[in-house]
Amino acid sequence: MERTLSIIKPDAVERNLIGNIIKRFEDAGIKIVAMKLLKLSKAQAEAFYAVHKERPFYGELTDYMSSGPCVPMILEGEGVILKNREIMGATDPKEAAAGTIRADLAIDKEKNSVHGSDAPETAAQEIAFFFTEYELAG
Ligand code: TYD
Repeated sequence: MERTLSIIKPDAVERNLIGNIIKRFEDAGIKIVAMKLLKLSKAQAEAFYAVHKERPFYGELTDYMSSGPCVPMILEGEGVILKNREIMGATDPKEAAAGTIRADLAIDKEKNSVHGSDAPETAAQEIAFFFTEYELAG
């Protein structure tokens, strides 16, 4: 069964949207098989987003991602990587399809409420960044 990493980002945790977001995953038949609430340090946020190191938004993005608690989760289901990306919507909420998390809840293209792995290799890397095998529910 496929797995992906989802993060409820600081802007959504701050606005009490954890339950709202989790309900969307559960209603879509996706299982949460691991979950925690933590605050990333600036160095951890930089490591997580290392692929964007050369991008102009890297400094601001990593400041934001380390500004408050977030909720990393492992989601499981058939085709869950793509399914999660569909439920999330486009990076910029102005471009996100109606009914997606980002269209409904995101503030802007930086404070966009959720992260989701974009491919099997990144899903494996990002799951390992936050979780050990002992933290998996099954
Ligand atoms: P990206 O991987 O392009 O988007 P997604 O989260 O939809 O996979 O970018 C990663 C994050 O970087 C994005 O969620 C928010 C941030 N970001 C900005 O702050 N400004 C930008 O112009 C872009 C493209 C991304």
